[in-house]
Amino acid sequence: MTKPKVFVTRKIAQEALDTIGAIAEVEVWEDELPPPRDMLLKKVPDIDGLLSLLTDKIDATLMDAAPKLKIVSNMAVGYDNIDVSEATNRGIFVGNTPEVLTETTADFTFALLLAAARRVVEADVHTKKGKWKTWGPLVLLGHDIHNATLGIVGFGRIGAAVAKRAIGFNMQVLYYDKVRRPDEERELGLEYVPDLIELLARADFVTLHIALTGETHHLIGAAELAAMKPTAILVNTSRGPVVDQKALYQALRSGRIFAAALDVTEIEPVPPDEPLLTLDNVIITPHIASASVTTRTKMASMAAANLIAGLRGEMPPQCVNPEVASRKG
Ligand code: DGY
Repeated sequence: MTKPKVFVTRKIAQEALDTIGAIAEVEVWEDELPPPRDMLLKKVPDIDGLLSLLTDKIDATLMDAAPKLKIVSNMAVGYDNIDVSEATNRGIFVGNTPEVLTETTADFTFALLLAAARRVVEADVHTKKGKWKTWGPLVLLGHDIHNATLGIVGFGRIGAAVAKRAIGFNMQVLYYDKVRRPDEERELGLEYVPDLIELLARADFVTLHIALTGETHHLIGAAELAAMKPTAILVNTSRGPVVDQKALYQALRSGRIFAAALDVTEIEPVPPDEPLLTLDNVIITPHIASASVTTRTKMASMAAANLIAGLRGEMPPQCVNPEVASRKG
């Protein structure tokens, strides 16, 4: 029997590739950079399955070019790079990798929060540039994390994992979400704030954990930044376009807020002429919140399992469009 064909858009953990290789003919894009669009389109006409990353745009044009495609398995929890309704209309399963990255992403969110509050990156640069002349009472003063108020925007798995860490720092935790979570509120002693502006006005730290949709694009813009405290710190490990970066630049430059720490930007990779790169009070990391060896291996294995199920015509264990199964059924 001929094996199904699969294209994997970047090198991933070898054990995941081996699992896929046991049942499919696999081609892996070996470059460090993603396949350029025209190349990606050339790779898909014969494939039954695609293992994609958040850097690959999976839209109607790509699906037109891949008439045999049964499954798009995205190695990420987010899937805003995929036109899911197009996939659903065509009976193509879409898989993602939730849960395995929750704690790792929450760890990194806290790393950014601590680093921005205590100016860790600036302090390191200060030292390496030979500016450490003495112990100074006013040198590199930051803001305390303990006893401060954290505002979580988007209370899904990652938001909840960040809340647990915050409790350990004796923070007061507020959260804003469409859905109220009374169990967690009670268990962790959180406060639900149904009004975003109110949460922004009360928080010392604001951390974003929402998916990118038409509704959340530029959710944090000039008006929202203006509502924040001048001492506030904004952390974003979700998706860059949730924040209006031009407005954020103005807010940081004018001292309207104290600092920001971003693992994601509106355009990725961040263009070298991005004005935010000129500011000392912003930390920008290259979308690495889930980047631990263990987690990336688990994400690859989960993406492989989703892919294999889809190739067999079965619903992937982590499926974002389960309605495809009922259509097939
Ligand atoms: C995701 O999974 O969506 C993250 O942004 C990358 O791990």
